[in-house]
Amino acid sequence: MRILVYDDYAQMSAAAARHIASRVNARPSIVLGLATGSTPEGMYAQLVELHRREGLDFSRVATFNLDEYCGLDADDPQSYERFMWEHLFAHVNLDRSRTHVPYGATRDPEAECIKYEEMIRAAGGIDLQVLGIGMNGHIGFNEPGSAPNSRTRVVQLADQTVQVNRAKTEAEELPSFALSMGIGTIMDAREIMLLANGDAKAEIVRQAIQGPVTPDIPASILQQHPDVTVFLDRPAAKLLALKLD
Ligand code: PGA
Repeated sequence: MRILVYDDYAQMSAAAARHIASRVNARPSIVLGLATGSTPEGMYAQLVELHRREGLDFSRVATFNLDEYCGLDADDPQSYERFMWEHLFAHVNLDRSRTHVPYGATRDPEAECIKYEEMIRAAGGIDLQVLGIGMNGHIGFNEPGSAPNSRTRVVQLADQTVQVNRAKTEAEELPSFALSMGIGTIMDAREIMLLANGDAKAEIVRQAIQGPVTPDIPASILQQHPDVTVFLDRPAAKLLALKLD
């Protein structure tokens, strides 16, 4: 794993956006795996800036989001589809038909999960997957105990995840089930970026990056992926044993 530490959230976000931009420029038809949550918001804002100021071209890019709440329609204020439109899709020249978020309001979640995996395969697989990390080490909505070979499926969220996510929104209630890419789906990506910022993530970042690989800390399996870059701000990196220059 390459570990990059930045002075603050703004610099971390700018660097992560530059990293994506370099990959998009090198391969205009890249397939991106995208994450929601507060962590990547700054990175998406920077990507929008790069599109506006430097003409970063998304016209041939395809995207697949990690997850979506079960039962929420695409335009629900709490849906991840809506998050993506607000933070990225509406502001860059992505082709709408190439953006994908699992359809949470589907009547047949199992079929939706199978279809999602098929669409990823048909697109040629994910070239670059962006990840945040949950307070319990989850990636996507793969909570502790998720199988390393799991694929896109219906998952039940940990109580802590529901509480943390509710605190981040004005929603009184959030679904406790979701559709999520599996650990196996994520590990199939050719390249992975993991982003984390803030003091509160320092301990889980340490366990994920420098602790043992265990299903109890789902992000720890990333240690076994051949091409992972970790973008941290200083507070999130403070418990890592790093050689500082
Ligand atoms: P956050 O969520 O970016 O809002 O901290 C990360 C996650 O739960 O994966």
